[in-house]
Amino acid sequence: MTDPTPVQTAAPQGHRTGPEPVIRCTNVAKIFDGRTVLDDINLDIYPGETMVIMGGSGSGKSTSLRLMIGSFRPDRGSIQLLGKDICALDEHHLNEVRKQFGILFQSGALFNSMTIAENVALPLQEHTHLDQEIIDIQVKIKLELVGLREHADKYPAQISGGMKKRAGLARALALDPKILFYDEPSAGLDPVTSAQIDQLIIALTRQLGVTSVVVTHEMDSAFAIADRMAMLDKGRILKVETRQWFERLRDMADAEAAGLPEDERLIRQFLRGDAEGPITQRRDQSAFTTDLFGA
Ligand SMILES: Nc1ncnc2c1ncn2[C@@H]1O[C@H](COP(=O)(O)OP(=O)(O)OP(=O)(O)O)[C@@H](O)[C@H]1O
Ligand SMILES: [Mg+2]
Repeated sequence: MTDPTPVQTAAPQGHRTGPEPVIRCTNVAKIFDGRTVLDDINLDIYPGETMVIMGGSGSGKSTSLRLMIGSFRPDRGSIQLLGKDICALDEHHLNEVRKQFGILFQSGALFNSMTIAENVALPLQEHTHLDQEIIDIQVKIKLELVGLREHADKYPAQISGGMKKRAGLARALALDPKILFYDEPSAGLDPVTSAQIDQLIIALTRQLGVTSVVVTHEMDSAFAIADRMAMLDKGRILKVETRQWFERLRDMADAEAAGLPEDERLIRQFLRGDAEGPITQRRDQSAFTTDLFGA
């Protein structure tokens, strides 16, 4: 019989033995305008795994991603990427590290005046000295990987939202990255297109052996692609565990879940999208307090 209580499983959390992590966040904090939006973040991400970072709106998901890619610097703590402390690097050295990872932004962030093929070729033209013929072959390979080879000569305005995501993904793959970062890859897509993007993420991770970090609040997508998941709440990591751990928590019967610590009941409510639970109770209380005493 499997152990139904998630707290008692022995899956890894935080640092562990084995291969060196590709990304290591140690005691990371980020402060905006005097407000701490991320605090004491400890997270290791291992080679070849897909780590999903989930949490409610404003919990700090995108900020944590931007810290990992070096767009923001932490106010406390350190971030190691591929063995380098990225907080200690100047812009030139940071750009060298950036060549080793690809990013898929929410909108796909394509240049509208360029064809899909030209968009995918851009990182190769900017960061390599390859001949145009070699670049053309590389572009075809990347477009084939995401199923867009026949659409190479179209402009972004001529393709659908799902195809734009694929094109953005082909561009993120242009330099054969070791790590792929995704911010809300299925946002704004219909459920079928969203599921197709999930399948593509899984296939690419398997075929290319890349490490993926995916920020999302779409739970179907999270459970489809994750090896491990990290739950953010109000700038803190409540839990880092295997997908199976979170599945068990989601599917646990109400009577059993009632005995869990508050953090785990909160995660469970988030995973299930329940209308009632610690998240909504907290909101009701804080709204009431604000009503009574002002902000
Ligand atoms: N550049 C910035 N300057 C000031 N505050 C910021 C900045 N970026 C993010 N924040 C604040 O940090 C907090 C976390 O924001 P973040 O964008 O990381 O949340 P998120 O979890 O990605 O939310 P969503 O699901 O809505 O995308 C929010 O309160 C946001 O207002
Ligand atoms: Mg975000």
